[in-house]
Amino acid sequence: MCYNYLMKKILLSGVKPTGRPHIGNYFGAMKQFVNLLSSGDFDCYFFIADYHALNFIQNAEEMRQNTLDLAIDYLAIGLDPKKATLFKQSDISAHTELSCIFDTIVTMPYLMRAHAYKDAVAKDKEINVGTFNYPVLMAADILLYDTDVVPVGQDQKQHVEYARDIAQKFNSIFGETFKLPEPLIIEGVATVPGIDGRKMSKSYDNTIPLFASREEIAKAVMSIVTDSGAGIPENVFNIHRLFKDGKELKLFYEKNIGKYKILKEALIEDINAFIEPLRERRVELAKDEKRVIEILKESAVKTNEKANKKLVEVKRAIGVIY
Ligand code: TYM
Repeated sequence: MCYNYLMKKILLSGVKPTGRPHIGNYFGAMKQFVNLLSSGDFDCYFFIADYHALNFIQNAEEMRQNTLDLAIDYLAIGLDPKKATLFKQSDISAHTELSCIFDTIVTMPYLMRAHAYKDAVAKDKEINVGTFNYPVLMAADILLYDTDVVPVGQDQKQHVEYARDIAQKFNSIFGETFKLPEPLIIEGVATVPGIDGRKMSKSYDNTIPLFASREEIAKAVMSIVTDSGAGIPENVFNIHRLFKDGKELKLFYEKNIGKYKILKEALIEDINAFIEPLRERRVELAKDEKRVIEILKESAVKTNEKANKKLVEVKRAIGVIY
């Protein structure tokens, strides 16, 4: 493995195309994608984790639409395909090939420690192999690009740790091949709460979609569970602080103690003011789906070149090519 210290650090992250992204995805991860890309400090890779989503979405039409929608979402938040590589995981077969190689060095007891696996067991769910193996594919996603930094929300921290462990194990068996990636998790937005106070998540049905219409925002905000007997409704405040400066907001909440209607109406206005320009940009981008498909196709060619180079290095290390 040879590092070029003059080169920019490599940043990679992905989102599953399992339906509309929500403000938890945005503040926890996608906003960082935009900020870190525009810092100019990183060589950025953002992808659509469609094979990870296949564990949840098993309908071709839905998968096609969700994937295209997520590509449009990436563009709408400001990821410029000329500055970052935006691609679809399934276009780069090196991800699954590397995952298959990693399967041979990862043990089952080790994967049984994954939070997602333990949760599924606790809920008595029948677990498919894709879900069990989820951290291994994710390690392949990350390690294939010699990634330095992985911006994610708190719920993905363990997965990045798996990637580090797998890299270390591979390196110790076959020689220095992979860099050890670091998660980048921003305090204060590591776990964005949903309208019921639990972590915002599609599976809890407690989300505010990132590109929500004004009506959807109003409906979601009005159903935020107000938990407080003694003043500031924490659930409302904790979502509101994503959109407004903390000090000013605190004063506003103190001035309006107990007036939930006023507080919620202000929150609707602030969320809408933030989302409106994103929503409008998204509508424009969605008019030209062909261009979006073209962007993915073009980046697949470039990304395959890079990924395949790394895969050759790996195959040499394990002794399957001469
Ligand atoms: P996914 O699609 O579930 O979520 C995308 C990103 O959003 C973050 N996130 C949150 N952050 C803060 N608060 C929340 N309530 C919240 N909900 C979601 C997630 O942490 C994530 O960063 N396994 C990944 C996709 C993936 C990936 C990768 C990511 C596949 N391969 C390689 C990074 C690197 C996932 O399911 O994200």
